[in-house]
Amino acid sequence: MTGAQRTIGVGVIGAGWLGDVHARAWGRLRHHYADLGVTPQFVAVADSVPGARDAAVAKHGFATAYGDWRELIADPRIEAVSVTAPNALHREIGVAVAAAGKHLWIEKPVGLCAADAQAVADAVAAAGVQGTVGFNYRAVPASARLRELVADGAIGMPTHARVRLLTDYAAHPLGTLTWRYGLASGGHGVLGDLASHAVDLTRYVLGDLAGLVARTAVFIPERPVLQEGAQTYGHGLGDPEAPKGAVENEDYVMAMMRTHAGVLVALECSRVAVGEQNNYGIEVHGTTGLIEWDFRTPGELRLSTGSTYADQPTQRLFVGPGAGEHGRFQPGSSIPTSYDDTKVVELAGFVRSILSGTSEGPVLADAVASAEALDAMVRSAAGAGWVTL
Ligand SMILES: NC(=O)c1ccc[n+]([C@@H]2O[C@H](COP(=O)([O-])OP(=O)(O)OC[C@H]3O[C@@H](n4cnc5c(N)ncnc54)[C@H](O)[C@@H]3O)[C@@H](O)[C@H]2O)c1
Repeated sequence: MTGAQRTIGVGVIGAGWLGDVHARAWGRLRHHYADLGVTPQFVAVADSVPGARDAAVAKHGFATAYGDWRELIADPRIEAVSVTAPNALHREIGVAVAAAGKHLWIEKPVGLCAADAQAVADAVAAAGVQGTVGFNYRAVPASARLRELVADGAIGMPTHARVRLLTDYAAHPLGTLTWRYGLASGGHGVLGDLASHAVDLTRYVLGDLAGLVARTAVFIPERPVLQEGAQTYGHGLGDPEAPKGAVENEDYVMAMMRTHAGVLVALECSRVAVGEQNNYGIEVHGTTGLIEWDFRTPGELRLSTGSTYADQPTQRLFVGPGAGEHGRFQPGSSIPTSYDDTKVVELAGFVRSILSGTSEGPVLADAVASAEALDAMVRSAAGAGWVTL
């Protein structure tokens, strides 16, 4: 799509880690997708913390900084809004963005539960605006290639799979009690944070889920409360002498899921897995083969394909131009794309949706489907056993 040259006025709400990643993606859109003919204008950033919004202005050149996100949404110069605030604000902000007639690029998991994601989906549909959700592991060229190979029968009929997101960001017991650990502020714990991606990746590769059973656990039940003005220790660690508050959501989830096509999927996600750093990936077994992607080696797949069954070799397959959007970033195979690149790919889909009026995934229906699976995991873990979706 080329279209006429035009500008899009951009607002970013929540200038933390992902707000910065979204702003970087807007800044790089033309580097990789000049053919879209769109020049983003950094109109405004909103953050309740002055230092955070000032840093975003200094770094990305936003023309205006707001302390109240409502002012940003009311700004007539803004056509598209990145919502990268904490989960508890997704519903209210997402609904308000759509109701103001602005296009919405919102981070996963879209609220605290499926009802929140549904409310945002309804608002986007009612307003006739575009909505894109931050399920960026779909945007990895190797994921796109893996999905294609599975669909093309390279491993026969898919039978069973494993999806994992294991990491250690919450493994230190002195990690402070941020919004992520509260039910009202963060909603689900590792479910919303990591399992939301795992469910989406599973659906992207293997189709919709029919049901699941899950168990969850909290391994670090309390953490130091971050005192106003208090010093933090090392990498976001709290004062060992500070009072402690309760962790209200799960550190770990293990689930068995079944797709409508009958594929059994083992899911395991942890935010407290000592020794694991972003050990994310998916492995799919089929009647004649195996295919695997690991986040830590993003530009390659492991593929076993053929007709020899036992002792069938597994090859290392480097993905290159032709796999997903790889060619937009690198000219050859084995030059991997990055985490930030996935957000540029996601943004390009969002912008194409705005230009054409036809939505590209991941959309809000995907956030609702993921959130319904997460809610089902909570019910299952609380004693409901197998939950049909
Ligand atoms: N797609 C991914 O890979 C990915 C990765 C990390 C986080 N996320 C999602 O991004 C979102 C933000 O996560 P993060 O890691 O950037 O968190 P963060 O804590 O680094 O940033 C959140 C920002 O929102 C600001 N904020 C809080 N209340 C606000 C308010 N009322 N108005 C405006 N700003 C407010 C905070 O001051 C902070 O700067 C979450 O929903 C999270 O699930 C997605």
